Amino acid sequence: MEKYIVRKSGPLRGEVSISGAKNAVLPIMAAALLSDEDCVINDAPALLDVDILCRLLETLGAVVKKDLQDNVVTINSADISSVEASSKLVKQMRASILVMGPLLARKGEAVIPLPGGCAIGDRPVELHFKGLRALGADIRVSITGIVKAKAEKLRGADIYLDFPSVGATENIMMAASMAEGVTILENAAQEPEIVDLANFMNKMGAKIKGAGTDIIKIEGVERLHGCQHTVIPDRIETGTFMLAAAITRGCIHITNVEPDHVKPVIAKLRECGVEIIMMDDGSMVVKADEKPLTSTDIKTLPYPGFPTDLQSPFMALLTTVNGNSAVIETVFENRYMHVKELQKMGAKIKTQDRSATIKGTKKLKGASVVATDLRAGAAMVLAGLVAEGTTEVAEIHHIERGYEHFVEKIRGLGGDIERVEE
Ligand code: UD1
Repeated sequence: MEKYIVRKSGPLRGEVSISGAKNAVLPIMAAALLSDEDCVINDAPALLDVDILCRLLETLGAVVKKDLQDNVVTINSADISSVEASSKLVKQMRASILVMGPLLARKGEAVIPLPGGCAIGDRPVELHFKGLRALGADIRVSITGIVKAKAEKLRGADIYLDFPSVGATENIMMAASMAEGVTILENAAQEPEIVDLANFMNKMGAKIKGAGTDIIKIEGVERLHGCQHTVIPDRIETGTFMLAAAITRGCIHITNVEPDHVKPVIAKLRECGVEIIMMDDGSMVVKADEKPLTSTDIKTLPYPGFPTDLQSPFMALLTTVNGNSAVIETVFENRYMHVKELQKMGAKIKTQDRSATIKGTKKLKGASVVATDLRAGAAMVLAGLVAEGTTEVAEIHHIERGYEHFVEKIRGLGGDIERVEE
């Protein structure tokens, strides 16, 4: 088993370039199933999740060319020979459910094992089903948890999402893009990844308006063609490196970044006393080496609120600032698995239901901890960079699902981290 050894490092300094967004590239790759022509995706990050989806698309009959050295993935779905997603791959990555909408649109059929829960909660998919049913799909779930979806013809519909689910919005958008007539999706998710998917699909010839607002209008078209697209920078990776500058009281110049996508992180870090400077070329400097940092409160919400994916890395920072902070997690019901791990490092955190209170401490100490999920793993690495002594982070496969060249990027900034085989 591999693990990271992280040692107390000085302030992180230097420049880091952000990779393409994991949560944008996955739905975009799934949307490539909608066309029988080449879709060329630039800035595709070299991540385990991207590999898994490549394999899944291949099992469906797509021809996938991966040049992850240059971060280009080319997908040709001319010959979709299967509509059945392999349970082995779906188990490895929940986002595999995103092939359901495109398969229904393209082949009128999809067979997918239910993705099931994960460390951060149950993660049901009934909103995906609700939307696809409204478009005319017949969806049945067998006792063994296999979802069979069929639709002779998809027809546009008015759909209201009870919660602005990111995945449901994406699945419905993809299915509706080739339905007959117009779909109006209300209380849609507004995440930048939804906008990126809509931009990609509009390049394919889809007619999607309103992505990025809570009402999306999709006018179905008969055929979608190939296109070329560059994925947006990863806002969660951006936030993680902003937090790396803050927690180590360093100064990091972050390039290939979209500051508008990290507004709540900018606001909250400024409340803590971190200086954030927007450069003329669109890059951002995050500077925390001038004055002591103080506490703040955060509440996770769907976009444009504070992202749940940065809750655990932000909590790592809050354990090191002056004063008491409060965190409220509203998006997932069980996203405090990292608390126990931070406590092993001396963090003073109390949780009750979805709330956590954090008492800032001057000293974290190195410990053996576990990356309980992808973002919790990043939180452990951040804490390890400032903890006395050595921190060993196990289960790092979670981290490598979502952070491209994480170790190299942190080392490039002066962080003392190495990846070892046990
Ligand atoms: C996406 C992101 C993930 C991020 C999350 C919330 C990808 C690949 N993953 O996940 O990193 O943490 O958005 O920003 O883009 N829900 C239901 N019923 C449903 C669907 C969702 O109750 O049918 C609930 C979930 O249990 C959860 C909340 O809605 O509590 C948010 O889930 P959702 O927005 O769907 O997240 P994902 O698309 O799975």
